[in-house]
Parts: sequence; structure tokens; C-alpha cells
Amino acid sequence: MLKLSSVLELTAKGLKDSTENWKDFEELKSLFCCKTSAMYDYVAAHRQDDDFYGFQFLNGVNPNMIQLCSQIPPNFQVTDAMVKPFLQEGTSLEKEMKNGNIFFCDYKTLDGIQTRVYNGEQLVVATGFCLLYMNPENKLTPIAIQLLQQPAKENNLFLPSDSETDWLLAKMFIKNADSIHHQSINHLLNTHFVVHGCALATLRNLPLIHPLYKLLIPHFRQTLHVNTLAQTRVKDRSGISSRTTLTLEGRLKLMAQVHQSETTYISLCLPENMAARGLMSVPNFHYRDDGLELWGHIQRSVKRSPFHTMWS
Ligand SMILES: [Fe+2]
Repeated sequence: MLKLSSVLELTAKGLKDSTENWKDFEELKSLFCCKTSAMYDYVAAHRQDDDFYGFQFLNGVNPNMIQLCSQIPPNFQVTDAMVKPFLQEGTSLEKEMKNGNIFFCDYKTLDGIQTRVYNGEQLVVATGFCLLYMNPENKLTPIAIQLLQQPAKENNLFLPSDSETDWLLAKMFIKNADSIHHQSINHLLNTHFVVHGCALATLRNLPLIHPLYKLLIPHFRQTLHVNTLAQTRVKDRSGISSRTTLTLEGRLKLMAQVHQSETTYISLCLPENMAARGLMSVPNFHYRDDGLELWGHIQRSVKRSPFHTMWS
């Protein structure tokens, strides 16, 4: 019903199947003219603000990349002098790292992953770093972006003091890399395919009366069905794969590499994951606060269940 009403609305506005490009952000407003909300208005007004950009690494779609930075990676060419103007007066990058106020995202897993050709040109994906500073107002803000892993002389390192369009474009390249990582790893791999293995192992190896089976099975109610649909869609070369930055082969290679090198039992446990990334005391990190509360409820519920008593 929702889909039908959306199609009717797009048809009425002359936008259904349209291949015209948007000319500016003002035109986008026509798409949402009947559906404004406080959230929409806030995002539209603050979409280019550095504070809001930083906030999204903690509380946006993908809070899984950011980590505490206690040492700048050797191939990240940022220096103290470069970022000093964006830190509080009288401090330095070294001092702020010691105080636990510097964070970074590293997109090295995208290095060497095959991208699609669009209009005869090979698409480029950022594989570098975004450095962020938790300022005295407890606002996380980007202070340097290096687009590629390999240091280069030109067009690689960007700062908030660069021209507005250069800095905006650098932030967009990083967001694109972040989005690719989120959809391929944190969504498709970890929430669909890793769970698929757990569901199959439960169905194949545990008897119906096993305490673990009883605890797990309600959570796998639609896993196999949804994953079968997801696999069909992901592997359809005329579908999603024909519109994203990576090729199908590139996406599968990325998932296989990350699964082999980074997926561990601990990495899937929220408290340990947060601690390993140095994020336990970051202010205004609602994803962590809500997630740990939920984690605690599930843990207490499992411990209270008769299955746990039988099992332990
Ligand atoms: Fe999903």
C-alpha cells in the first residue's frame, strides 16, 4: 500500500521513471514537499556543517568505522602544523591524542577493490582516512581527509581551510567509501550472511530440545527467506550491482577479505567491540549507550531463562 501511494505521488509530480539530473538541492524539496519533518528540516539546513558530518560517524547509519587514534598511521600524511588551526588554542595533535580527543576512520579495506566503469570512466573510491577532533564543546568535527592509502603529492590531503567545494567533495568521497563499507560489511555480510551461517548451524546441528536451539530459533524466523531474496538481488547484474561504485566481483571480494581478516567472535560482541575501538567514554555516542543497554537486557534475559540454569 505504501509502495503504491509512493508510486502514485511520484507519477503525480512527473518524477516517476525520470532520468533528469537534479540541478540543485532546492529541486529536491519538491520531492519531499508533502513529507517534511523536523529531522528533514534539520538535515537540509545542516548537511554541510562539519559538526553534523562528524556526528554521523557516531550516530548515523554506520557507527562501525570510527576508532580512537593514539598514533597517526605512517602512510597518513597529516601533520601537527596542518591541523593546529582547527584545534583548541594552545594545544597540539600529540596532546589531543594523549587526551583521547582524536579519532579516525580508515578505509584501507577498499584498497585494490574493483570499481565499475561508468560512461567510459573507471569510478574512483576513496581508500584513505578521515581524522576527527572531539572539541571542548563535545562536538566531533573532521580536521583532515586523505583520500588514498598511498601518500601522493597532489589532490590527496584536504583540510577544512581548503576551498568550500574541495572540502565538501573530499567529505563526500569519504562518505561514499563509508556507505560502501556499511552496506557491504556491516549490513550485507554481518547482519545477513554471518547470521545465515548461525541459522543453518542451529537447524542442522542442534536438537529441538537443546537450550541453545530454544534461545536462538525465534531470532532466525525469517533469516533464510530474507537472505535468499538478498542473494538474488545482490547477484543480479542488471539490478543493484549495475548502479553502485563497486562491481559485483569487487563487492564479493571485499566481503571475503574483511570476513577472513577482521570478523572474530569478539568483533561481533558490542561491549568488547566498543572497548577495542576505544569508544567507551566518547560523549554523545547514543548508538553505544542504547546498544549496550539492549545488550544488557538480552544478557539478563538469557541468564534468567530456565535454559540457562539447565545449561550452566
Ligand atoms: Fe537487510
